[in-house]
Amino acid sequence: SERDSLFIVSDFAAKHYVQRLHGHEQGAIGQSYLKQRGLSAATIKKFELGYSLDEWTDLTDTALKAGYKQQYLEATGLTIAREDGKKYDRFRGRVMFPIHNVSGRVVGFGARTLKSNDKKSPKYLNSPESEIYHKSNVLYGLFQAKQAMRMQDMCYMVEGYLDVLSLHQGGIENVVASSGTSLTEGQIKLISRYTQNITVLYDGDAAGIKASLRGIDLILEQGLNVNVVTFPGGEDPDSYIQKVGDTAFKAYLQEHAQDFISFKTSLYAEEAAGNPVKKAEAIKEIVASISKIPDAIKRTVFFRSCSLIFDIDEQVLISEYNKLHLQGR
Ligand code: CTP
Ligand code: MN
Ligand code: MN
Ligand code: MN
Ligand code: MN
Repeated sequence: SERDSLFIVSDFAAKHYVQRLHGHEQGAIGQSYLKQRGLSAATIKKFELGYSLDEWTDLTDTALKAGYKQQYLEATGLTIAREDGKKYDRFRGRVMFPIHNVSGRVVGFGARTLKSNDKKSPKYLNSPESEIYHKSNVLYGLFQAKQAMRMQDMCYMVEGYLDVLSLHQGGIENVVASSGTSLTEGQIKLISRYTQNITVLYDGDAAGIKASLRGIDLILEQGLNVNVVTFPGGEDPDSYIQKVGDTAFKAYLQEHAQDFISFKTSLYAEEAAGNPVKKAEAIKEIVASISKIPDAIKRTVFFRSCSLIFDIDEQVLISEYNKLHLQGR
């Protein structure tokens, strides 16, 4: 079928990029980049990282010569066809991160430029949606993480490819990335096959935190438990574990994990300090989050802690909740 053909050509491409990384002279550039990012040979192998040559048609030509059909190269987005009929490779001169589905088949790629600050080309390029790749239903690293997720009964959520790789290498194998997009219901359903507990590791910038709050309400709605850990300014999980080492990183996670509702409540309470209008808005916002939680006992516990943090009568929160609930949440 068409789907099978897309899986087969994606698998070919993944192997091709691995061959280019290890068996082509240009691959040395990719290798030294990965080494500079602190990744070991074992991690590179486990995640099947590769390199796309800085040439216009290396993959396309090799695939066609080997008998793969143009049609499937285009359907996976590996080859781009211009209006004048000229064909070229989507990914060129980049480190390649194959994206696997839960059963371990390659469905797409993320690709990082080696240039540190090139305004002209984006830092990451990703495969477009295809019949086998639906971004909203895939989590980077899930195939490699799922066993550990079940064993530890917990899943770390990070933003990026490198975050997954560095944590995995540091012995934290229960980690997946949403790859920049905000979390979807489909992704949460995938996680909930293995565990009901998620710990979100944000990049340490305020923008990142604010943007993720919505996605987390979605997790609460599905009845999962959410903890969060934030990192000191400018650090992301990858840069932080590379900086402090595995042991200190794990200790940091233990010390700084807090449940999401308390985290969000404190965040809003801080911002609203001394401003009654802001405080009222903040309380409504928190109540809206708590009201997403399907479990009544958990809701009660969170109303209690919210009433303490904001110094407001619990009954006021509960009647606000009832109001939302009557409106259909
Ligand atoms: N992302 C993307 N396209 C971009 C930037 C980011 O698809 N132009 C996605 C990637 O999946 C990336 C994630 O968003 O891994 C997080 O972005 P960011 O924090 O900027 O990148 P890092 O993963 O930290 O990458 P690096 O450490 O290599 O800079
Ligand atoms: Mn799929
Ligand atoms: Mn970021
Ligand atoms: Mn990052
Ligand atoms: Mn990073």
